[in-house]
Amino acid sequence: MKAIAVIPGQQNSIHMQDAPDPAPAVNEALVRVLRVGLCGTDAEINSGLYGEAPSGSDYLILGHENFGVVESVGSEVKGIKPGDYVVASVRRPCTECFNCQHGRADLCTSGKYTERGIKGRHGYMAEHYTESPEFLFKIDKAIKDIGVLLEPMTIVEKGAAQALEIQKRLPSNPRTALVFGAGPVGLLAAAALRVRDLDTLVVSKEADSDPRAQIAKAMGCRYFSIDGTSLGQLGKRIPCPDMIMECTGSSAVGFAAMQMLAADGILCLLSVTGGDKTELVHAAEINRDLVLRNNVVFGSVNASPTHYKLAIRALKTAQKKWPGVLAQLITTRLPWTDFAKWFNREVSGIKTTLEIRG
Ligand code: BGC
Repeated sequence: MKAIAVIPGQQNSIHMQDAPDPAPAVNEALVRVLRVGLCGTDAEINSGLYGEAPSGSDYLILGHENFGVVESVGSEVKGIKPGDYVVASVRRPCTECFNCQHGRADLCTSGKYTERGIKGRHGYMAEHYTESPEFLFKIDKAIKDIGVLLEPMTIVEKGAAQALEIQKRLPSNPRTALVFGAGPVGLLAAAALRVRDLDTLVVSKEADSDPRAQIAKAMGCRYFSIDGTSLGQLGKRIPCPDMIMECTGSSAVGFAAMQMLAADGILCLLSVTGGDKTELVHAAEINRDLVLRNNVVFGSVNASPTHYKLAIRALKTAQKKWPGVLAQLITTRLPWTDFAKWFNREVSGIKTTLEIRG
């Protein structure tokens, strides 16, 4: 079969190649990939900054945001049948840590987990893949068109669900939220907060007329364009929120957000910031404010099966509440042979997908 792969560690090595046709075991399904979503992690892997090939392979098939259809199932497979639309999760457990052994590879403590399309395991930018049903999630026809957004939705669902869980420490419930960034992750975070009825403000650099701002408003969020306003001044211009989700990819924004929380508020950091950039921060002031305001700052990565189920429910609710709005996140659908256009930054917009035809 054809696949899109990189040589991990080698800059701009992305290419299309032949790869062995996967042969499903009796307890696996064979899935035909229909589309994959592209994200910053894919770009970073192609820059040689991140990513690891499976052991014994010198290449890594890229792609972790996926959507496909089951083509056949092995004799021992239950619960999934040919014709079902499915999304496969990304992370697979290590063999040694307690959390991985208890279904929580997203909380792996050994660092020896693998991730399809990212770390030590081939991904979904291929005509087919095989997988155990344990890692496959069925997608209803109602959300088929936005099924490729499920994986990034699981990331924000985990962040939001954990933040609310941690805030059970308080007698009151969080009411106001702020999302930094109106890229795909930021807008999905806004959706996750709005389906929970939080009063949500999205802050990003795009103008008020930008489609990103329009999508945020269509989901009942307020939108604030940070264009021309320094992050420091922003804290004086908007009310301090009970909850912040940082989705910009900038560590500077993460630190600024720490000083914008309301008393008892919580900040969820979701950006996997690449590189080793340093920032000058007011360490004593930040530390003092976090202490005196009982604030919580936490990071969140990947997602568990529970978050996949929550994310499916959130996509369905969003589709009912705001029909067609999340679909507007997918601004470019490229035939997969045109993958280089996105990696060479010839495509702008919110989310680009590669449409895979066998
Ligand atoms: C993916 C996650 C993954 C993380 C770290 C993100 O882009 O969406 O599934 O755990 O990168 O590799």
